[in-house]
Amino acid sequence: MPRTLSLRCIGLSHRRCRCLLSTLAREEPARPLVHTLVPGPRSLELARELQEVSEGRTVQFFHDPHKSFGNYVADVDGNLLLDAFCFIASLPLGYNHPNLVEAAQSPAWLPHLAQRPALGYSAPPEWVHTLRTKILSVAPQGLANVQMTCGCGASAVENALKAAFIRKRALERGDVNPTTAELDSCMRNSEPGSPNSMAVVSFEHAFHGRLFGSLSTTRSKSIHKVDIPAFGNWPVLPFPKDEQDEARCLDLVDKTLSEQRVAALIVEPILSEGGDLHASPAFFRGLRELTRHYQVAMVCDEVQTGVGATGRFWAHEHWSEGLEKTGQGVGTGAAELAPDMVTFAKKMQASGFFFKPEFLPPQAFRIYSTWSGDPLRALQASVIIDTIVADHLVERVHSVGDYLIHALADLNHPLVERIRGRGTFIAFDLPSPAQRDHLLGEMRNQGVLVGSSGDKTVRLRPALIFDKHHADILLDILARVLRHMP
Ligand SMILES: Cc1ncc(COP(=O)(O)O)c(C=O)c1O
Repeated sequence: MPRTLSLRCIGLSHRRCRCLLSTLAREEPARPLVHTLVPGPRSLELARELQEVSEGRTVQFFHDPHKSFGNYVADVDGNLLLDAFCFIASLPLGYNHPNLVEAAQSPAWLPHLAQRPALGYSAPPEWVHTLRTKILSVAPQGLANVQMTCGCGASAVENALKAAFIRKRALERGDVNPTTAELDSCMRNSEPGSPNSMAVVSFEHAFHGRLFGSLSTTRSKSIHKVDIPAFGNWPVLPFPKDEQDEARCLDLVDKTLSEQRVAALIVEPILSEGGDLHASPAFFRGLRELTRHYQVAMVCDEVQTGVGATGRFWAHEHWSEGLEKTGQGVGTGAAELAPDMVTFAKKMQASGFFFKPEFLPPQAFRIYSTWSGDPLRALQASVIIDTIVADHLVERVHSVGDYLIHALADLNHPLVERIRGRGTFIAFDLPSPAQRDHLLGEMRNQGVLVGSSGDKTVRLRPALIFDKHHADILLDILARVLRHMP
């Protein structure tokens, strides 16, 4: 008789497991509790030790996963910090959400903890069900397929770009099957099999990852790119400075797509790492029209913007705004505005991309890796999706974000410039990079974590469970820090 795996099977008695779980924090403090500077002495010591064996310089502080709960992260120095950055925008439900903690103890998760399968080779029977009823339940309209990838956003982006190249070459040659000359020449990395003159278009200040292919589309900071070979002919185009600049930028996209051999255009709905740069829904609709016209795949990179934080499940859902008013809405459904592919990672806690069926490669093994996803992370994503729906978290983000952005404006502080955002995906600038960095450090020392992006931007990336009273605490501490800015 087959037996369900028990905790005992992986070496933990039920009592010990319950005991470990009982050490998890279960409630938030009323306010941040700070006893040391952040990072404190224990964090600094661990960072020094980490640097001896790996990269420790990027670690801001060491957290205590057992004592963190809800919107509060505990650090190893005993501080409890209100977290409005959430592991670089990647925690949808905060820390140790009861639904996730409970699900993690279910027998369904156990075998996937014990081993990670090579899903492209052999998948567990419930895999189809998980994809169909959970992951695809949040698929953007018109994108009926999903490919899960290794876990990071860059792996989602790179596989989506590969799918775009495969599709574009099939269209060019008028046949899904490569020729013998192509199969031979690709083994020497040469044309025609390796279409080296075919490009991906991305925008100035964009960030799409740091792996070899995605890095060529990333344009946020030179330190990410320097010393690494790049796809030299992949064009970078200006992202609109403001609404008046959008027609010029669209003209340049038009010119580039008409003159060059382009497989894909990749764009974030809000250029996040680059400094929270926004453009109007009409600009993105313009990109959609041009890419469709030139048969260029439009890849919308929702690694950072996706999963509720902008007040819609996917940020590109905002692109239909304004259509109703102008009457252009007639015949312009969400499916028509939808990009060809949408990448996700971060808040899904699993990575991959949704795509239109025509982007499924005509041959097997072309979009593939050993893991090809992870059942454990897919189960985690399922609980996240269920919780977001059951607790109406996207609606909550919408109203909390509205409250927060107005309250920020009401601070009316001369150092707080260009307040912008959607939902709780909010940012503002300080006059200089030095002032921004000073503000971030002081806020952290007073118990609130926010992030940086671009040159002088402060970005807020709270969990979807961030509430108005958390916003009040953040605003109170921000106001206090601003009062003492040099
Ligand atoms: C829009 C976007 N795309 C891709 C990535 C890369 O994701 P990862 O760091 O998980 O590879 C990021 C990471 O910040 C991102 O913001």
